Amino acid sequence: MDHLTMAIESSCDETSVAIVRNGREILSNIISSQIEVHKVFGGVVPEIASRHHLKNINGVADEALKVAGVTLDDIDLIGVTQGPGLVGALLIGLATAKAFAFAKNKPLVGVHHIQGHISANYIEHKELEPPFMALVVSGGHTSIIEVLGYNEFKVIGRTRDDAAGEAFDKVARVLGLGYPGGPLIDEIAKKGNKEAIHFKRVYLEKDGFDFSFSGTKTGVINYLNTEKQAGREINIPDVAASFQQAVMEVIVRKAVDAAEKLGQDKIVLAGGVAANSSLRTMLENACRHKGIMLFCPSTILCTDNAAMIACAAYYKYKEGYLDDMSLDAFPNLPLE
Ligand code: KG4
Ligand code: ZN
Repeated sequence: MDHLTMAIESSCDETSVAIVRNGREILSNIISSQIEVHKVFGGVVPEIASRHHLKNINGVADEALKVAGVTLDDIDLIGVTQGPGLVGALLIGLATAKAFAFAKNKPLVGVHHIQGHISANYIEHKELEPPFMALVVSGGHTSIIEVLGYNEFKVIGRTRDDAAGEAFDKVARVLGLGYPGGPLIDEIAKKGNKEAIHFKRVYLEKDGFDFSFSGTKTGVINYLNTEKQAGREINIPDVAASFQQAVMEVIVRKAVDAAEKLGQDKIVLAGGVAANSSLRTMLENACRHKGIMLFCPSTILCTDNAAMIACAAYYKYKEGYLDDMSLDAFPNLPLE
């Protein structure tokens, strides 16, 4: 018999509600983005994000049910992102999910946002099953995670300072490109020379899988200052392409090394930065070279969306996870 999960995602600046059948088939995935609202501030303003979630969430939920052609009575499970993220933003999704679960007496499952990002790949690739190595690159996270089961994770490496997406957003800001910076750098870098400027590749300890991107970001800022002071014109596409290359080289090398070292023959890419064209090409080449299978979600499933949360909630529920009305939001929720 069909099983329907309704899920809510509101951890940052996207209000999203989805209905997913049997964990992997999207019936609806409505995403209301606040990018335009936050653009004028050059980044997400937490209080404004919370207010917009509150304003939009009921409409987004109604739309998700309408597009899926179902009512709340047809839903078998309610899933919701409980962290990490902006606490005020998370609380709006949580309160809404609890209200639906309580009013209709439905089971409720809280989901870790990163588990959601990884799960986007189960929707995209119907045959994919754990174990595999996951590379999660987003605005808030850059991690290499060994996925041993649907609900079993081992974090192999993580960033010690900026997340990759965060570094992209900051560099885009100093280049005057706008917000969010990741897609803008990706686009303008296509017109630049990735060998033009050598920015530092930070590998930290040999054989380690942690990342650090703040040095590379500062390298770009210093380069721009030096060039400006010397009165030289700055070639923005070259800077963007060279910065992107420095960041992606490290990410790809570490992900492939981690998979090899731990004997995983699959790498699963996830998170907002997974949309980056250069990362995809470099990772594809490296995986082909090493005989590793690579799985990537389509662009719409890379960014924050509720379908990925529904998929994660489904596999948690199937393995016996269940929450109640005391479910809370945790801005720094650990994955393990
Ligand atoms: O996963 P996501 O939607 O939100 C978080 O959970 O953080 O990721 C958003 C991040 C932003 O930093 C954005 O600039 C970055 O993903 N991003 C990209 C690209 N598309 C989005 N970064 C590089 N290249 C892209 N094409
Ligand atoms: Zn995300």
